[in-house]
Amino acid sequence: MTAPAVRCRDLRYGFGDTIAVDGVDLDIERGSVFGLLGPNGAGKTTTIRMITTLLPAPPGAIEVFGVDVRRKLAVRRLIGYVPQQLSADSALTGRENVALFARLFDVPRAGRADAVDAALESVGLADVAERTAGTYSGGMVRRLELAQALVSSPRLLVLDEPTIGLDPIARAGVWERIEQVRADTGMTVLVTTHYMEEADKHCDRVALMHRGRLRSEGTPEELKAAIGPEATLEDAFRAATGDDLDSGAGEGMRNVRAVRRVARRLG
Ligand SMILES: Nc1ncnc2c1ncn2[C@@H]1O[C@H](COP(=O)(O)OP(=O)(O)OP(=O)(O)O)[C@@H](O)[C@H]1O
Ligand SMILES: [Mg+2]
Repeated sequence: MTAPAVRCRDLRYGFGDTIAVDGVDLDIERGSVFGLLGPNGAGKTTTIRMITTLLPAPPGAIEVFGVDVRRKLAVRRLIGYVPQQLSADSALTGRENVALFARLFDVPRAGRADAVDAALESVGLADVAERTAGTYSGGMVRRLELAQALVSSPRLLVLDEPTIGLDPIARAGVWERIEQVRADTGMTVLVTTHYMEEADKHCDRVALMHRGRLRSEGTPEELKAAIGPEATLEDAFRAATGDDLDSGAGEGMRNVRAVRRVARRLG
């Protein structure tokens, strides 16, 4: 049996007294687009940081294509990651930003220039590649970050809120690129988002996370059908998380700060 793209077993993580991830079991099928949904503070980013080897995991807790994440270098070669905090350098051109990631992620020197061109092309930024990223719109910056994550031809693309703070057209543009790359390469995509319609439209399966635990998991159709005939994914989300979805004490301000930070960076 081939190993799934991602397998988590009883995943746990705490920051001091805060239990961020509280026993998560997860299997992500190869070639699928998997959405991890949940309110602020649910534990999505912590889970993703463990999967991408940025936070430590105990032996056997996470495998990526059958490789234990404790083998950090081997796993990093399989992964492209767009973090929640923006990572493009506004003083560098689009091409320089992508080239930097190509070096960081060990793209062989001989094929590097071609890989950078292909990544820029795949997100529709080839024409503006010589402009500094500081002159890009928010949607262009997000697509540039996607190119950074794609330049090493990862088998698993991990995107933490790739469309936050973008207008609807820019959001659709980011998804279009993700879907195109997935169709072209068969790569697996793990994405977090707060936008339920996006998850409904673009994810093969979703998991609803709340307070460190997965409350339900399935195709968007399954989760909606479990609530009722007219239910939206947001209804399923509310049913899974209870009515305290918006209260998230202490998390509200964090989110406001995060959106402001994104807004500032995006100009
Ligand atoms: N570096 C850290 N130090 C201390 N606590 C943290 C840290 N990172 C996250 N936490 C806490 O862990 C919990 C889970 O946070 P996490 O960032 O994983 O949530 P999230 O689901 O990604 O939220 P959001 O939707 O706001 O991005 C929260 O209670 C958060 O305050
Ligand atoms: Mg997060």
